[in-house]
Amino acid sequence: MQSETHGGEAAKLDILGFRRPGSAGHVRTALLWLVPAFAGVALAADPTVTFTHDVAPLLYQHCTRCHHPNDVAPMSLITYKEARPWAAAMKEAVVTRKMPPWQADPHYGHFANDPRLSDAEIQTIVKWVQEGAPEGNRADLPAAPSYPDGWKIGKPDAIIPIPADYTVKPHDPDQYVYLRVQTNFPEDRWVSAVELRPGNRRIVHHAHVYLYVPPKPKTASDTAKKDDKPQPMIKRDGTNHINPLMPVVDDGCSLPHGGNAFGDPQENNILGSYLPGKAPDVFPEGYARKIPKGAVLEFQIHYNSQTITDTETDRTSVGVVFAKEPPKQQLRRVDVSNHFFKIPAGDPDHLVTACYVFPENVDLMSYTAHMHLRGKDMKFIAIHPDGHQEVLASVPNYDFNWQNEYQLAQPVPIEAGTKIKIVAHFDNSANNKYNPDPTKDIRWGEPSTEEMMDGWFEFILPQKPAETASIAHGAK
Ligand code: HEC
Repeated sequence: MQSETHGGEAAKLDILGFRRPGSAGHVRTALLWLVPAFAGVALAADPTVTFTHDVAPLLYQHCTRCHHPNDVAPMSLITYKEARPWAAAMKEAVVTRKMPPWQADPHYGHFANDPRLSDAEIQTIVKWVQEGAPEGNRADLPAAPSYPDGWKIGKPDAIIPIPADYTVKPHDPDQYVYLRVQTNFPEDRWVSAVELRPGNRRIVHHAHVYLYVPPKPKTASDTAKKDDKPQPMIKRDGTNHINPLMPVVDDGCSLPHGGNAFGDPQENNILGSYLPGKAPDVFPEGYARKIPKGAVLEFQIHYNSQTITDTETDRTSVGVVFAKEPPKQQLRRVDVSNHFFKIPAGDPDHLVTACYVFPENVDLMSYTAHMHLRGKDMKFIAIHPDGHQEVLASVPNYDFNWQNEYQLAQPVPIEAGTKIKIVAHFDNSANNKYNPDPTKDIRWGEPSTEEMMDGWFEFILPQKPAETASIAHGAK
């Protein structure tokens, strides 16, 4: 860990969390506050870190996409007036790396949307706070980021809301709602950015928008309904759950379809998602998602009204930016899941796996880990056709409150026949402070009080010829 700051030792110790009251840093801060006359002298001798010159650019780059008015974070950090009261809390949050939220282990994969501060940037904030969090010269302040009408993707070319205000009763943590809207674009539309925006952040926990072109294509579950075998899923109180008659298999990789109850995973026809902590989708240049002419959008919204005391309404909408150029490729997604697991009551470290074999060469673009409140960690492993294993990404401290999408800085080539293995652990013990009930055996279900085990992979068809891709891998 490097430190270029004055009083480097104090700052360094502070980063490690070892500083005790009375150490150099504290004394100096106290002096600055109590003896303003000397503070001027001290500052002159000491090239000072200021809000306008040093801190604001960091906040605009790493923090304000959430910390602006009416967004997910409780306070805005755009102006000095707004940020100053949070100075000490900001220092604490960045030193502990609680903020900005990011769960992927930096040892695996390089991600385009990695928001983490460098050690030097953390030092800048630490030093600023130690020096009394001065404002500095207002002329230094960079232009504040703009979030037009609250949209992070810029002004959308089209905004499509759910059909009507949706009313939610209080005290219900799990209401899953499916709402459909017919699009009326005169032709196929390619979108380069998608943002799903909750209408009422107090009650929208997460939401997805799926695309259908009527007639809705038959899914594996529709086909399965034709015979008399028990259905893999049953509906109870408006949500889906694994049918208790289904066998228990934690090692999904031991099953023909890798743990998926519907057969091989179908390609997911998603337009966009809103998950806590997830930034909107802004696709790399040349890539886009298609809204086919005549498509129906299906919003799946998970409302959690636990914290409200009266009925409230929501009007969630999706905003899209049209691609300026015809895209080179459609982005595609496959969801790798185990639906058959059972997590025993009290088990602090329950292992579950799921597998999927890519039938063709693809370039991976992003990963998302999805579990609920008992989710503990998840690893994404590629088992190449020659047998060698590679950890693509690892989320060692999964947090249901922060479901990021890990977007790769460079596409990762995967040869046909590569097995993707997802390895996850669940903590169903009382030590897991988020555990809704450690006395219950838990199986697959949509409510947050039950569990899911999913890895979502976005991919495109290879940009490089297949030979080059496999040589690149062989060389590793
Ligand atoms: C992905 C959205 C997001 C980003 C990016 C983000 N925050 Fe936050 N921040 C939140 C939310 C939501 C909360 C409130 C819930 C919580 O504390 O977990 C929060 C809380 C905080 C708090 C209060 C913590 C406490 O202990 O009460 C501080 C301070 C903070 N953020 C600072 C920052 C700083 C500094 C950055 C950038 C370096 C940043 N945040 C980036 C969403 C974000």
